[in-house]
Amino acid sequence: MAFGNGYHHCTGAVLARMRTELLIGTLLERLPGLWREVPADRVARRRRTMIRGPRTLSCAW
Ligand code: HEM
Repeated sequence: MAFGNGYHHCTGAVLARMRTELLIGTLLERLPGLWREVPADRVARRRRTMIRGPRTLSCAW
C-alpha cells in the first residue's frame, strides 16, 4: 500500500495503517484458516487506475 509523498502525502496514512492492522489482525484471529483460493498469477488485477491491486480476492477458511 502506498500513501504518496512530498506535499501531497496522505494525511490519513497513520489512521489508515492502524485500521488496516486492526482489520487484518481481527480477521486472522477470527478465521485462522483463512487462505487465498486462487493462485497469485490468476488473481484479476486493476491496472489502469491510480489505485491498483486485486479486482477481487476470493478467500476460504
Ligand atoms: C488505505 C487507505 C488510504 C490510502 C491507500 C490512501 C492513499 C493516498 C494517496 C496515495 C494520497 C496522495 C495522492 C496524491 O499524490 O495526489 C493521499 C492523499 C490524501 N489522503 Fe489518503 N489514503 C488512505 C486513507 C486516507 C484517510 C483515512 C484519510 C483521512 C481520514 C485520508 C486523507 C487524505 C488527504 C486529505 C489527502 C490529500 C493530501 C494533500 O494533497 O495534501 N486518506 N491518500
